[in-house]
Amino acid sequence: MNKKTVKDIDVKGKKVLVRLDFNVPQDENGNITDTRRIVASLPTIKYLIENGAKLILCSHLGRPKGEVKKEFSLAPVAKELSKELGVEVKLAEDIVGESAKKLVANMNEREVVLLENVRFDAREEKNDPEMAKELASLAEIYVNDAFGTSHRAHASTRGVADYLPAVSGFLIEKEIDFMGNALENPKRPFVAILGGKKVSDKIGVINSLLEKVDTLMIGGAMAYTFFKAQGYEVGNSICELDKLDLAKELMEKAKAKGVKFMLPIDTKIGKEFDKDTESKTVKYNEIPAGWEGFDIGEETIKLYKEELKNAKTIVWNGPLGLFEFDQFAIGTNEIAKTLADVDAITIIGGGDSAAAIEKAGLADKMTHISTGGGASLEFLEGKKLPGIECLQDK
Ligand code: 3PG
Repeated sequence: MNKKTVKDIDVKGKKVLVRLDFNVPQDENGNITDTRRIVASLPTIKYLIENGAKLILCSHLGRPKGEVKKEFSLAPVAKELSKELGVEVKLAEDIVGESAKKLVANMNEREVVLLENVRFDAREEKNDPEMAKELASLAEIYVNDAFGTSHRAHASTRGVADYLPAVSGFLIEKEIDFMGNALENPKRPFVAILGGKKVSDKIGVINSLLEKVDTLMIGGAMAYTFFKAQGYEVGNSICELDKLDLAKELMEKAKAKGVKFMLPIDTKIGKEFDKDTESKTVKYNEIPAGWEGFDIGEETIKLYKEELKNAKTIVWNGPLGLFEFDQFAIGTNEIAKTLADVDAITIIGGGDSAAAIEKAGLADKMTHISTGGGASLEFLEGKKLPGIECLQDK
């Protein structure tokens, strides 16, 4: 990565505002159910502590839409972080108000303060310069390590960099290095697996990957739009009727580029959207009326596995079926297992695909699992991420 990191600056005795992505899932009792984003932020936080900085951490959690809502408080994160770091993380009651100012005013080296959810302030998502200035006034240096939020141009991810020297943390560096290398210098064959509900969500990434990969495999509900585009019935399956021409264009583009474009050859269908619904597997072009496609079928799994065996770089974004229901998680799980076994660089886009790999217990078998959902998708699309663009160049 060509951006400066915390290693390129002197942080000793300095107040450092660090933007992290602590947007972690919680159960109904407020217990954090997946700490991966917190764990991924530790190397930067620990480095800053060890090098004598005064740490002022900030993040959003959920989408409270500019209102203070208790269920979106960062209190559980402060608790978890204190446990992980073995030092007390003091939680401010506000973001740039009296509580934050008071805690920050009397900091010693190696102390850690966490500001409350930046999205409790409606100015955050508007990238309001006043909020950015107020945040900047708390510190002397700004570090962005919130890879998962780096596609958002908000006050704490973009605006504040206008008022403080701004560098990257180690997580952003790692994400960009792994994903960037896979895209720019892939060992070939280079295979991308794209799943998820809608073609419309993935147009950008399909277009961009068609320029780079040798094979593109499609799974998830978006496959049904491609079937329909070829004139086949898809029953009650999710299908974007206004994207049929686009689906055709993408298939034609693949052909013109010499990219092997693989669609499922069979599909597991169910009667209803229910975990115990009656189900069966049919050929891709024989989906009966009244049934809905929820997973790729066994023949497709075999076919995709064969192709993946020879791959040297694999990028995967989006589950291949309705993996939240066990009977429709088979495609996603089998492909995850294949990736765990192949001798290839395996890069997993965040969000649902990362959750599926985690659920299958295979996380440590992957080369890299991104902590970003939307951010990793935009990176794979080749878009510039505002939270990274604004950082100082090396
Ligand atoms: C995410 O979970 O993808 C990030 O934290 C960004 O959250 P957002 O989509 O609410 O901006």
